[in-house]
Amino acid sequence: MPKRIKFLLVSGPTREPLDPVRYLTNHSTGVMGQRLFEALRRRGHAVDWVRCPEEAGTALELLGVLRRKIRGCDALIMAAAVCDARPARFSKDKIKKRALGVIRLVKNPDILAALAKKKKRSQFFVGFALESKGLLKHARDKMDAKRLDLVIAQPVTVKKTPFGGGNLEAYVIRRSGGHKHFASVSKKALAGFVVRETEKLLARWPSS
Ligand code: CTP
Repeated sequence: MPKRIKFLLVSGPTREPLDPVRYLTNHSTGVMGQRLFEALRRRGHAVDWVRCPEEAGTALELLGVLRRKIRGCDALIMAAAVCDARPARFSKDKIKKRALGVIRLVKNPDILAALAKKKKRSQFFVGFALESKGLLKHARDKMDAKRLDLVIAQPVTVKKTPFGGGNLEAYVIRRSGGHKHFASVSKKALAGFVVRETEKLLARWPSS
């Protein structure tokens, strides 16, 4: 068995409330997070699993939780589908539908980019990239901007999405160069590959 690694795993969608009834979210189902958790446990690793929205509802709450937890981990897998924007104002009262024509949004912080600023040399970051165009180029840009060591890039269009329990297309891209393409892969197999790849690359890592 490989050396035991302390993983921080983050999955699922954030929810950005507008009023006591409504919120903004996305199509993430959390299945990839579940498969990653199972793969990590099968390989004997320690896993601190933060599930959205149960354990951190909004992007701002998630950032707070991860800032507290990040120091203690060897590897971060950021599979959460963070809403990039939130309603500018939360209304304590239910908003009447006549006032719903325009909802002003403000941008959420980029959580990975914020965590990357304090990333230790010994830590390994895995992120995702969902793209409708320029998949590999944009995924590499995210890798640089967020100091990622491995990126799982997935194409997304109206007809083809990576959400839910079915097979998906994915590229696993290494910072050190090269990538592996899966034309159609189950989330279980993809999770297993990502975990073994992380083990392999971390084994060659400098210690802190
Ligand atoms: N991510 C994050 N904080 C955000 C948005 C995304 O930490 N506010 C993380 C995701 O968990 C993922 C990676 O960044 O691991 C890339 O997410 P993606 O949605 O593909 O891209 P964005 O950075 O949001 O950029 P864009 O929406 O412009 O493609």
